[in-house]
Amino acid sequence: MCGIVGYVGHREAYPIIIKGLQRLEYRGYDSAGVAIGLDNKLKITKTAGKVLELDNKASLNNTNGQIGIGHTRWATHGEPNERNAHPHTCENEELAIIHNGIIENYDTIKKALLDKGHVFNSDTDTEVLIHLIEEIKKQEKVSLFESVRLALNEVVGAYAIIVIEKGNTEELIAARKGSPLVIGVSEGEYFIASDATPIVEYTRDVVYLGEGEVVLINKHQELNVRTISNISKTPYIEELELSLESIQKGAYPHFMLKEIHEQPKSILDTLRGRIDPTNKELKLGGIFDFEQTIIKANRIIIVACGTSWHAGLIGEYLFEDFARIPVEVEYASEFRYRNPIINESDIVLAISQSGETADTLAALKLAKEKGALVLGICNVVGSSIPRLTDAGIYTHAGPEIGVASTKAFTTQVTVLTLMALLIGRKKGKISLTKYTEIIRELELIPKKVSQVLKLDEKIKLISEEFHNVSNFLYLGRGYNFPVALEGALKLKEISYIHAEGYPAAEMKHGPIALIDEEMPIVVIATKQGNYDKVISNIQEVKSRGGRIIGIITEGDTVVKELVDYCIEIPSCFEELTPILSNIPLQLLSYHIAVLRGCNVDQPRNLAKSVTVE
Ligand code: AGP
Repeated sequence: MCGIVGYVGHREAYPIIIKGLQRLEYRGYDSAGVAIGLDNKLKITKTAGKVLELDNKASLNNTNGQIGIGHTRWATHGEPNERNAHPHTCENEELAIIHNGIIENYDTIKKALLDKGHVFNSDTDTEVLIHLIEEIKKQEKVSLFESVRLALNEVVGAYAIIVIEKGNTEELIAARKGSPLVIGVSEGEYFIASDATPIVEYTRDVVYLGEGEVVLINKHQELNVRTISNISKTPYIEELELSLESIQKGAYPHFMLKEIHEQPKSILDTLRGRIDPTNKELKLGGIFDFEQTIIKANRIIIVACGTSWHAGLIGEYLFEDFARIPVEVEYASEFRYRNPIINESDIVLAISQSGETADTLAALKLAKEKGALVLGICNVVGSSIPRLTDAGIYTHAGPEIGVASTKAFTTQVTVLTLMALLIGRKKGKISLTKYTEIIRELELIPKKVSQVLKLDEKIKLISEEFHNVSNFLYLGRGYNFPVALEGALKLKEISYIHAEGYPAAEMKHGPIALIDEEMPIVVIATKQGNYDKVISNIQEVKSRGGRIIGIITEGDTVVKELVDYCIEIPSCFEELTPILSNIPLQLLSYHIAVLRGCNVDQPRNLAKSVTVE
């Protein structure tokens, strides 16, 4: 969603801000803007297009100045046009603001401000906030820092903001609630951003602003942090665990392709230190203190959105198989508004790559209020979900920049496998033999993923046959049913081809009517579980003329003869197949999207982390 960058210090602010905005492009946006603080004015440039267009426009004029803010906007209130792009100013342009989030009560505040004579120039909720700050500053005759704090007391909603003041070339004010904000700290300068990607090349010392905190950032002073209710806080400086290389494409044409190919390493990193090399015992430090509570849990409720929800579905199979704990997998957005039944003996497990998804965060807060133990599986260290949970396990996928989740999914499934195995073993629900065999197999998975990645060229050739179709169907059963859902989501989000995932047997209850010679059907038909039944489903598709792409187990001649195109993946335990069977589907979506000329890393209308509900 929206991206925020700010700088105050001794360097030229503009290049830092533009580069920072480019680093945040992956979050998804439709307009951009920048404000540079000069001695006697704020120099503001905005555009409805991309950061490149903003740069072309702003560079026509003088961009000098050592303080500034910049923004990429993902429209919520008001069209994505120049008028609604941030920064927004109060009437006399004394103040400007950039904002990520939603001010839910903006309408009420706006009406009150209109009565006081304020005139608005945009349709945004954000503009209302800067007018409110201006009004409080004027009425209460307090500092800008105090005005921002007081204004935020009147606001309902989520925000990460930075405010800049005309003529004040030394200070910025920032605040956050529900949307993340990181401050990079260096000698005589500060870098502020929605995440650490714009900061990493300048400093490794960062402060993650806490929930409901507001900060005065003066280039000559230490950070002055207060809560919105005016309690002083000591900022905690942490070292950034992020390399510049990990947020650059390197030799790859797209981040998505780079991230697909990183999976052997990211899975290995996720396993690292968690399997004892001698006795194959599992160690999950993040949940160690809560093992007994998990073992005794009556139920695990998994909450997540999108791809993470699909990983959660695989978690359901794993926990029920290995640990015999009933699992429910919920869309966080439905769960939070459904008055769900949550007991103290329930465990609520959130799965999220970004750790910032607004609905998942809200579902977790609700579960916490109702007394459940809340756990998380997240990728972004220090993000909001891990901060809220009682305990959790990080995936070590590394930064995922492409909007389409790839390595996040396979590492989430890896963590769920480890968790279910550990709890299952401690509960005595899985035999030592099976437990050890699966762990040994799990250790081989990174190599097997590398083997699947070698099929890239073959999958590209298959993609050439199908990139012009309008619909796709994905079928799978058991552990591979969530993979079918994930394959369909991946295709639609980056290629804009309509695709649906179905449990293969459900096809007869409706989707079979769609099948004709035009319809490609991806069937995951690996040689375990309901193999024979999937073969019957393939026959049903075949007899209706559908063109079948089979994801099959290496050496399986039976299915190979039935399908039109086949992609062979190495054999492994059924419980681990999703990690392997998902990879060809990622590559298929990627190549189809590239052939269609789509913007793979930043698909239209999508945001990497959905920080508004
Ligand atoms: C997946 O490709 C999507 N970009 C999307 O469904 C994503 O998984 C979802 O928004 C959840 O994000 P999270 O894992 O960061 O919570």
